[in-house]
Amino acid sequence: MGVSTPENRVAPPVVRRRRGVPSRGAAVAATGPVAAGGGGPGTDPIVRSLFAPAPGSIYLDTATYGLPPRPTVEVMERALRAWQSGQANWIEDWDRPSDRCRADFASLIGTAASTIAYIPAASVGAGVVATSIRAGDEVVVPIDEFTSTLYPLLVAAARGAVIREVRFEDLADAIRPGTRLVAFSLVQMQTGKTADLAAICARARENGAEVFVDATQAVPFVPIADLLPSIDYLVCAGYKHLLSPRGTGYFYVRSDRWLVLEATNANWRAADQPFDRYFGGPLSLAASAARFDVSRAWHPWLGASESLRLLASWKDSDLFPAVRRLADRLADGVGMPRPGSSLVCVPAGDTARAREALTRAGIKASVRGDSVRFAPHVYNTEADIDRAIEVMQPFL
Ligand SMILES: Cc1ncc(COP(=O)(O)O)c(C=O)c1O
Repeated sequence: MGVSTPENRVAPPVVRRRRGVPSRGAAVAATGPVAAGGGGPGTDPIVRSLFAPAPGSIYLDTATYGLPPRPTVEVMERALRAWQSGQANWIEDWDRPSDRCRADFASLIGTAASTIAYIPAASVGAGVVATSIRAGDEVVVPIDEFTSTLYPLLVAAARGAVIREVRFEDLADAIRPGTRLVAFSLVQMQTGKTADLAAICARARENGAEVFVDATQAVPFVPIADLLPSIDYLVCAGYKHLLSPRGTGYFYVRSDRWLVLEATNANWRAADQPFDRYFGGPLSLAASAARFDVSRAWHPWLGASESLRLLASWKDSDLFPAVRRLADRLADGVGMPRPGSSLVCVPAGDTARAREALTRAGIKASVRGDSVRFAPHVYNTEADIDRAIEVMQPFL
């Protein structure tokens, strides 16, 4: 009846090859993408078969939204049909399949599944943390922080928290004795700049400050595993580089914060046994970060389960480093410093004309301020990047 079950969902290809193994000319294993190769990750036949950008188009706008893999779209289409016909079992077909996202996201960032909560948007995690900020607490944030992190803190400011806004580059130096929290995007959406996470974490540790990271524009391309023990909270929206539907996101809460941070969004899905009791007290929240779960929007999370399954299976392949190499190639081509992430924001004299030229060339990118922002992913190739460089040349 077209209902998605764990059995009939499409299994992702398995990546066998690991980093450092030469890729050029390697045969494509029947099991999955084997290499980015000289042409970039999007030349891999299996990767190509998983995505369906419009023919003739070049999609370089993953920082706005990522393209879903085919299994993601297929599982959602099946679920929508089962919804329409009333034949779905909401628990088995829609709710439980996304249980796996917790472990898949955890594996992508290099932590245990027990530290991850399900949230619908990055701002929801920021809001929970901001609620813990009291009158007189000092919070350090970048001057130009994205509002999903900044606004919940400005709400805290209304009850007396002191929000100190500093330059992105000065975050580490700005942390001082008495700073309660430092909150920032690891990769800035409007510049592609990557924060000096090691320096910020070290300074926060020295001064007893908590660290909140919005890693939406960073995962899975900027490694954070080694520094996670120094990060108290991290949020990541799913609909960009995690190639998932909007409405899905992740909230890392370090284990020593589970019982300290108030679970202000407590709900039935955050209970220790979510399907056992729907009515009455006592409060019986999960003992792990699952206590911060927001109950899931079924269909987006079903799609996310397929996207994350694929991304987690690619974690140790060459595909993610290959995307970073595409970003570096673009930066080199337009004469900019390499970004340290997958985002390249190219200052363009006339952004309106640059946008028109890109549209004429079938290239999708975004204008942010006085720059054109490009963000490749595994579906892109070196040829895509070279074409973007060519089109941007007159505007540099
Ligand atoms: C750094 C960053 N964080 C978060 C988001 C999305 O926020 P939310 O999930 O709250 O809509 C974006 C969207 O552009 C972003 O660039």
